[in-house]
Amino acid sequence: MVGPNIAVFASGTGSNFEVIAEADLDCRIALLVCDKPQAPVIQKAYKLGIETLVLDPKQFLTKAAYEEKILFELKERQVSWVFLAGYMRLIGGTLLHAYPKRIINIHPSLLPDFPGKDSIKQAFDKKVNTTGVTVHYVDQGMDTGPVIAQRSLEVNPDETLESLTIRIHEIEHALYPEVIRMLLEHEDRLEV
Ligand code: GRF
Repeated sequence: MVGPNIAVFASGTGSNFEVIAEADLDCRIALLVCDKPQAPVIQKAYKLGIETLVLDPKQFLTKAAYEEKILFELKERQVSWVFLAGYMRLIGGTLLHAYPKRIINIHPSLLPDFPGKDSIKQAFDKKVNTTGVTVHYVDQGMDTGPVIAQRSLEVNPDETLESLTIRIHEIEHALYPEVIRMLLEHEDRLEV
């Protein structure tokens, strides 16, 4: 069975994008949306044969106009889910309205702790004993939408920022495909 078309939005390295693309999921990545023309994720998509839409938001007069263009391209490809994977902008009303409860994000902390940028470093600098990863629904706020799943890890006594970063990404790469699979399997029972 061929599942729904999904889109992934990313701005950077794209390791989560790559993991989603290579996971055994009942869906098809119809489009990668990227707002940074130099982002390494674009090359990853090219190698994987996944169509990419690179748009510089500065070329649009308003955020709404930028999102209208994205929305048009998503609708053209009958995209029914959007997964953010290191997409460094807030989603606005245009896309949220078009995809209620269908825009999902992954974040490298146990939200509501350490939202925003550099979350792994923030947690490390604060010397927390436990941190982790959150997958959540996207709303207008910065990493504020309802939590779908979280997975935690204990920070080791000899942990470095580098080792913690690697461990967090390992969790992300396991958790995000699992959650996507779960959401797609229960799609027909989700309330909008
Ligand atoms: C990940 O840590 C993700 O949780 C956060 O941005 C990072 C993106 O990494 N939102 P990558 O581009 O997927 O490697």
